[in-house]
Amino acid sequence: MRIRAIARDATKVRADALIVALFQGVKRPDGATGAVDRALDGAISKLIADGEIKGKKGELTLIHVFGNLPTSRVAVLGLGPRRSFNAEVVRTSMAEAARAMRRIGAKRIATVLHGAGAGGLEPGFAAQAIAEGTLLGLYAYRKQVKNADAPSEVLELTIVETQRSKLREVRDGLALGQVMAESTFLARDMSNTPANHMTPSDMADAARKVAEEAGLDVTVLERDEMERMGMGAILGVAKGSAEPPKFIILKYQGDGDAPDRVVGLVGKGVTFDTGGISLKPAAGMASMKTDMSGGASVIAAMRAIGLLKPKINVTGLVPTSENMPSSTAQKPGDIVTALNGKTIEVDNTDAEGRLLLADALSYGRQIGLSPMIDIATLTGAISVSLGNVCTGAFTNHQPTLNRLMRAAAVTGEKLWQLPIHDEYREQNRSDVADVKNTGGRNAGSITAALFLAEFSESTPWVHLDIAGTARMDSTKGYQVKGSSGVPVRTLVQFVLDSANRRSRRRVA
Ligand code: BES
Ligand code: MN
Ligand code: ZN
Repeated sequence: MRIRAIARDATKVRADALIVALFQGVKRPDGATGAVDRALDGAISKLIADGEIKGKKGELTLIHVFGNLPTSRVAVLGLGPRRSFNAEVVRTSMAEAARAMRRIGAKRIATVLHGAGAGGLEPGFAAQAIAEGTLLGLYAYRKQVKNADAPSEVLELTIVETQRSKLREVRDGLALGQVMAESTFLARDMSNTPANHMTPSDMADAARKVAEEAGLDVTVLERDEMERMGMGAILGVAKGSAEPPKFIILKYQGDGDAPDRVVGLVGKGVTFDTGGISLKPAAGMASMKTDMSGGASVIAAMRAIGLLKPKINVTGLVPTSENMPSSTAQKPGDIVTALNGKTIEVDNTDAEGRLLLADALSYGRQIGLSPMIDIATLTGAISVSLGNVCTGAFTNHQPTLNRLMRAAAVTGEKLWQLPIHDEYREQNRSDVADVKNTGGRNAGSITAALFLAEFSESTPWVHLDIAGTARMDSTKGYQVKGSSGVPVRTLVQFVLDSANRRSRRRVA
């Protein structure tokens, strides 16, 4: 889809549909909506007076214009109450509106910059939110659909802004929104791809392609190198599969002044999780193709970072493997040794994600990454706690998580912190090894996080459990049924903010 911004009066724009917006309870629209209302001889105010348009969040009223304006239709979008308005309302309502426009076959849609006037958002940020909401909401994964009629597509989004002086900022916002959304698409695509087309080798190929596109360094460690290095935990998981594991390393070097300061992003890349010998039930197992969503989010965030070029160094680590049952698979009770030398009793082969991350976090520490943020579809228990709304967040370093939470407040991807008090640690105690890979039923997400803490050790670290938020069962707002691409935008925002913070400090 092409996205552009032009300096023009909303009443002068030519399109299949022009979207204007209204806060709840407004009786006489002003700004662009008011201008369009006047051009339509007060049609919008009449519909408000009749009670058909209320301005409720998600409300969309279509008015056919029949020649009174150069656009074919006007869509009046409700933004809800002004006091609860924010960028997330823009993203959500633009996504819903864009899908409604696609349903009626509109190919060229135009919109004014809602939120920037009465809503109080910066013009650039409002434009970014419009681009993100529209693109993310129109996303569809149809790579393997060959024989259906191609559905109608929105080809162009035009932002009309009367003040030419705002145009530059608006265009920068649109460009940033486009990078954020398209990187999220990459994560969604990878994670929606069925496991027969997204093996560890396919993930490594995807990472190589991203490195090429975004100017990153890429290294893929093969099984024999992992053996030499002592990554016994990931190798234990990979043993059961005919597909060789890969350990993907993506490097972005944006700050030559501080080459040793490198932020680490670490993503679980289990391309299919059967549970291994501790086999999962058949019902719903197909969704375990998305068990590499954390790894996909790291590759996708690295793409955005490479394209946006902030002054900071970032390294992405993606340990990737299948988790299969077979005659070569690891067995419950096996003991493996992770890269940092700690021994792990594999009590349940279905707790495999933490095994991959044990080696990856140890490796991250070895090469001096700090802070490290890991992203993983780690526990079913996190869905019990937080559903599909919030990602669970855990940390050994509160300031880092606070910064990530601030980034999440900007992107609208919700995080909620859970505790990792020492008292929970004893649930991971093993009689025969340094630590056990299960901590029992109670506080399952917390004991999983505490298992990871054994490997991040003293490095400032945040763990994000996205098992509840990585996949959506239905389409709503800018989330489309299937993989969500969470938390790509937040990771990118965190890195951009960190780079800004550092350069401010250098100046001060
Ligand atoms: N990949 C799963 C977690 C998961 C469950 C993700 C549901 C998405 C939806 C993970 O590898 C797993 O199997 N975890 C086990 C851990 C248990 C054996 C300690 C779980 O949550 O049941
Ligand atoms: Mn599992
Ligand atoms: Zn898993």
